[in-house]
Amino acid sequence: MHGRTGFCGTIRLVGTAREVFGDALPIAERYAAFLAKAGVERGLIGPREADRLWERHLINCAVVSSAVPEDAQVVDIGSGAGLPGIVLAIVRPDLRVTLLEPLLRRTTFLNECVELLELRNVDVRRARAEDVVEEFAVDVATARAVAPLERLAGWALPLLRPGGELLALKGERAAAELQEAEPLLKGFGVRSAELLQVGRGMVDPPTTLVRVVAGRGEVVGRRQRAPRRAKGSRKRSS
Ligand SMILES: C[S@@+](CC[C@H](N)C(=O)[O-])C[C@H]1O[C@@H](n2cnc3c(N)ncnc32)[C@H](O)[C@@H]1O
Repeated sequence: MHGRTGFCGTIRLVGTAREVFGDALPIAERYAAFLAKAGVERGLIGPREADRLWERHLINCAVVSSAVPEDAQVVDIGSGAGLPGIVLAIVRPDLRVTLLEPLLRRTTFLNECVELLELRNVDVRRARAEDVVEEFAVDVATARAVAPLERLAGWALPLLRPGGELLALKGERAAAELQEAEPLLKGFGVRSAELLQVGRGMVDPPTTLVRVVAGRGEVVGRRQRAPRRAKGSRKRSS
């Protein structure tokens, strides 16, 4: 846990990492080491990120856990190298986490992480979010750096149970993205959509989340998908 932060910064980071990960810190350290080596070598993490893994990635993702209800079933959309999904699974063994990721190179890496870290609460699923709508009705969907909110919400809301939550980790454009997504969110009949900051005093800047609570609209959205025609059936002419 070193790099560009300097001595005092490193001491502060160590304290924060201990506070955030608690007993799970040794597992988080193993994950950080794997990201810094295999993650960088295989191009899943930029080489410049290796020096700032803790503040920009691990702690930044771990603080999202304060917004996730106990015992929740979580789908992490576009997990990449496991952010935030692996981190949430490490810090919260009560969660059941599915890492949803379409690229084989990345799912291979994720499966290796699960084995290396001996995570019993994680599944890896190789697929695009929009292709697995019928398989999930989860409590929470997370996503970081996957797509603009408007597109992401269209993928995530159909994966949630009514009352389930999308927690999208967003940067400076969070408020603008939320505004742009409003018509779509209304169409899905969401209960609420708001900005939320987590990890104040632990990460600088704190992590910004867009939290969208699903109504019943997403179920309607699911039913509105074009029904599959039975084998051999003909398109009716009007
Ligand atoms: C920029 S990476 C971010 C990875 C990780 N969440 C992070 O913050 O480091 C975006 C990821 O989203 C995945 N992705 C793109 N389209 C997707 C879709 N339709 N469904 C699920 N994942 C998708 C990509 O394969 C890629 O791994």
